[in-house]
Amino acid sequence: ATVTFVESDGTSHEADLVEGESLMQIATGSAIPGIDGDCGGEAACGTCHVIVSDEWVTTTGKATPVETQMLDMSPECSPNSRLACQIVAAKAMDGLTLRLPEFQM
Ligand code: FES
Repeated sequence: ATVTFVESDGTSHEADLVEGESLMQIATGSAIPGIDGDCGGEAACGTCHVIVSDEWVTTTGKATPVETQMLDMSPECSPNSRLACQIVAAKAMDGLTLRLPEFQM
């Protein structure tokens, strides 16, 4: 199973979907550019901002109020914005595509 991270310039990176890990852990483990995960997954740094493609929003769910507060500070906050550290990888996410914002905090 894989998850694809697409940079704002269109460059895409595939990573192995490891069930039970957060998408931030998967991204940093695969050295995906633009995902730093500075706070270690506490929804407190905003360096793991991803934008979920429309067809996947029901699978990943919506941002929690804590996430939204953090994401609101991003110049690229969109309705599909999430913090990757708050999404836990599940089997159903095989093939998931996430866009990376142009300006990662
Ligand atoms: Fe810091 Fe996600 S890793 S907000």
